[in-house]
Amino acid sequence: MNTRYVIITGATGGLGQAVAQHLAAQDWSLILLSRNAEKLDRIKAPKGTLRIVTDVSKPGGTSEAIEKCRAKFQRFPVALVNCAGSVLLSPMHRMDEQQYQDTIHANLDTAFNSLKEFVSACIQARVQGSAVLISSVAAQIGMANHEAISAVKAAIEGLTRSAAANYAQHGIRINAVAPGLMRTPATEQFFLSPSAVRKINMQYPLGRHGKTEDVAQAIGWLLSTEANWVTGQVISVDGGYSALRTLSRSA
Ligand SMILES: NC(=O)c1ccc[n+]([C@@H]2O[C@H](COP(=O)([O-])OP(=O)(O)OC[C@H]3O[C@@H](n4cnc5c(N)ncnc54)[C@H](OP(=O)(O)O)[C@@H]3O)[C@@H](O)[C@H]2O)c1
Repeated sequence: MNTRYVIITGATGGLGQAVAQHLAAQDWSLILLSRNAEKLDRIKAPKGTLRIVTDVSKPGGTSEAIEKCRAKFQRFPVALVNCAGSVLLSPMHRMDEQQYQDTIHANLDTAFNSLKEFVSACIQARVQGSAVLISSVAAQIGMANHEAISAVKAAIEGLTRSAAANYAQHGIRINAVAPGLMRTPATEQFFLSPSAVRKINMQYPLGRHGKTEDVAQAIGWLLSTEANWVTGQVISVDGGYSALRTLSRSA
C-alpha cells in the first residue's frame, strides 16, 4: 500500500492528538507540528512519525514541514488538518487588544498560512491533496461572549469555500468541521464541577458535550477517498446544537 502522509498542526492540543490517533489507525503516516519541542516529544505516536517544531501562524511554517517530509521520505504530504487554534470566551468590551490579536493569530493566521502553503505545494507537485480546517459552532449562530472567536471562525468558513472554489480545478478538496464544545486543555476551565458539566450537557440535543474522537472521525472521513466528491463544505459536529430545538427536558 502507498504511504500517505498527513500534516497535523496544533498536534499537541486536545483535538490534534485525537486526530493523530484516529488517522494513524486509518493507516495514515503522521507529520506532527507544534511550536513546542518538549510537548511534541511527549506525544504518543507510531514509529516513523515525523515531529517538526514550527510556528504555522507565520508564513513559511508549513512549507518547512512539507520540505522536511520530502527530504526525509522522498514523499509529498497529501493531506493537511489545521488543528492549531484557541478558545476564548469573553464579551468584547472586556477583551484587550492582545487577546484579540492572539485569537486572530492562533485561528485565522494558522488556517490561512498553512492552507496557502499546502495548496501551493500541491499545485507545484501536481498532487490532488485534501485539507480540513477547524471552525466552530459559534461561527453560524449568535452565542454570547463569543465575539472574537465567532468572527475568526466565520472567516475560516469563508476561506474554506473560496479556496475550495479556486483549487477544485486542481483536484484539491478543502472542507471544514464546526465542532460544539469538546473537553480539551483549551476548555478544561468550563468543566470544573459536576454541576457545570451537567449544565453543559443539557444544552446539547444529544445529551452530552463533544469528545475529540467525534470530531476526529468526521475529519478522517473528509480526508478519505469515501469523501472524494465532497469539497467546500462545513460539517457541523455538535450533537445537534446548531440545528435543533428539542422539547424541554424538565417539562
Ligand atoms: N475545544 C473545543 O470545545 C472547541 C470547539 C470548537 C472549535 N474548537 C477548535 O478546535 C481547534 C483545536 O482546539 P483544542 O480544543 O484542541 O485546543 P488546544 O488543546 O489548546 O490545542 C490547540 C493547539 O494549537 C496550537 N496553537 C495555539 N496557538 C497557536 C498559535 N498562535 N500559532 C500556532 N499554533 C498555536 C497549540 O500548539 P503548540 O503550543 O504545541 O504549538 C495548541 O496545542 C481550535 O481551532 C479550536 O478553536 C475547539
